[in-house]
Amino acid sequence: MSFGISCFECGRTVEDPFVDSCPTCGGRLTVDMDLGAIKERSPIELRSRPLGVWRYAPFLPVDATKAVSLQEGATPLYKCKALADLVKIKDVMVKFEGANPTGSFKDRGMTVGVSRAVELGCKIVGCASTGNTSASLAAYAAKARLGCVVLLPSGKVAAGKLAQAMFYGAKVVMIDGNFDDALKIIREMGAAGHLYVLNSINPFRPEGQKTIAFEVLDQLDFKVPDRIILPVGNAANIWAIYKGFVEWKEMGWIDRIPKMTGIQASGSAPIVRAFRSGQRDFVPEDNPETIATAIRIGNPASGKKALKAIYETGGTAIDVTDEEILAAQRLLGRLEGIGVEPASATSIAGLAKLREMGEIDGDERVVCVCTGHVLKDPDTVMRSCEAIIHSKADTSSVLRAIGA
Ligand code: F0G
Repeated sequence: MSFGISCFECGRTVEDPFVDSCPTCGGRLTVDMDLGAIKERSPIELRSRPLGVWRYAPFLPVDATKAVSLQEGATPLYKCKALADLVKIKDVMVKFEGANPTGSFKDRGMTVGVSRAVELGCKIVGCASTGNTSASLAAYAAKARLGCVVLLPSGKVAAGKLAQAMFYGAKVVMIDGNFDDALKIIREMGAAGHLYVLNSINPFRPEGQKTIAFEVLDQLDFKVPDRIILPVGNAANIWAIYKGFVEWKEMGWIDRIPKMTGIQASGSAPIVRAFRSGQRDFVPEDNPETIATAIRIGNPASGKKALKAIYETGGTAIDVTDEEILAAQRLLGRLEGIGVEPASATSIAGLAKLREMGEIDGDERVVCVCTGHVLKDPDTVMRSCEAIIHSKADTSSVLRAIGA
């Protein structure tokens, strides 16, 4: 594999491996894979390796033989017949990223990002996070024996995620500010050489996350779905998945790219507002707020990349309320037995809402990416479900309590 790094904004080549943005214009960076060496191959050949991120090693910009891996990826693609019938869409599937080693899609990006950190000889890695990135980085840093610092917004991180970051041995710092403040601080620490930043502004992270596109295609025997729906927070994942489809189209392995469809929470929706007013850039939200704390982000670092992915594919973006998110989360659990965290349920809430608005056709094949596991945020789940029934410890009391 060979690759270069360039600026998403001005296109200039970037040589310094330790900068997190373009030294000339400050734009986001991207990895440009040289796919020439594998042009003659077919996607079937990749199947000699097990399903998962590293099946797609020729598309990844690190040495796969030295990968720091916890066997990430290979997540289920569930066909959701009951949900499809309910929303009156031909084919609805859920790509359940909660089945990754630390329970979210972040592991796909972290296996590549931490492998890169090791290649560069870094000793300490760090990130700002709404929770999942910190849980994932902490685990991969442990595996690679690297020091790890995570900056979290005080009081706004779901219990499961916080427990994970502490459990894997990261230095966990809560700041009196939100995610956007935390990201600014960790970037300053990275620029000053204190640590290697592994937020998704690091272009090696989306490289791992683009394997969601490859896996979906693989699981559908290379038939391209019409639409991908996913939550948008810091806005790298929608770009990453788009980039994966673009690369396979460049290879001639697929002939079109699904409509990339981004969902945000109503209290935290700068990308949706930009898209709905036809803008290619966005105005940050000063005080983002939502029950879906994973995507409680007002100034998405990869916002322009996300907008490009949406526009280029004829996709769309919409916001959903906290009530719609919680209802969709319960619906997916009770209709399909799939447990996802609130941010991930935005995909399902967005699916239903866009269908009602007539923006999704009934004959589409849709894949909803559900990014994180229900156990990440047990407090929200328990608040949004029916109360627990208490009973005396005898059979007749239990029968009475359940109304039998
Ligand atoms: N879903 C979940 C469960 C997330 O944790 C995140 C982001 C997203 C969706 C949005 O992805 O940022 O690429 O648009 N979580 C980050 C974190 C911000 O710190 O864990 P995105």
